[in-house]
Amino acid sequence: MSSVLSPEMKRRAGGRDLRIVFDEATIAARVQELGEEITAAYPDGELLVLGLLKGSFIFLSDLVRQVNRPLHLDFLVASSYGAGTVSSGNVRLLYDPETPLEGKHLLIVEDIIDSGRTMQKMLSLLATRRPASLAVCALLDKKLLHVPIPEVRWVGFPAPPAFLVGYGLDHAEDFRHLPFIGDLI
Ligand code: IMP
Ligand code: MG
Repeated sequence: MSSVLSPEMKRRAGGRDLRIVFDEATIAARVQELGEEITAAYPDGELLVLGLLKGSFIFLSDLVRQVNRPLHLDFLVASSYGAGTVSSGNVRLLYDPETPLEGKHLLIVEDIIDSGRTMQKMLSLLATRRPASLAVCALLDKKLLHVPIPEVRWVGFPAPPAFLVGYGLDHAEDFRHLPFIGDLI
């Protein structure tokens, strides 16, 4: 995997130097595997995939196209980080799905789990809606930084303890549109 940005990618990144941590092909291969595992895992019944905005939007759209069964989609909007790179722990739900959640298999799709606070908060909120099941598919997990969360059933990649951007992940709203995941250097 090359860690040097092409001139085109450096231009897209606003001239910032980034180190590529997961390139496009690596991400695509893993997303396909996750889609196959999710397809195989769910019994009959309604599957509602809930993407946590904004960070999951690219992962979500690639992932659902690899899931070979009927499903519905909605979004959750939580606020946690401001423009900083450290979790504030102050998580709020800004958008709540309009679809009823009771009796459905809920699969939350998240970009990255860091301290785990955002996910713990979402899970406790959603558990009160009496879903048939509640599980999480996270693209990245900084596993060493939080206690295990049993609902996190699928993880794309264990994440290094760096601040990652690209493929939906931002730093102060920059870099979401990059097709790879990198860290700021
Ligand atoms: P947590 O509550 O500390 O687990 O933080 C989770 C949220 O913070 C994720 O939904 C991300 O939006 C954001 N976040 C955490 N780590 C990173 C990172 O390395 N890059 C970009 N966003 C991050
Ligand atoms: Mg974010």
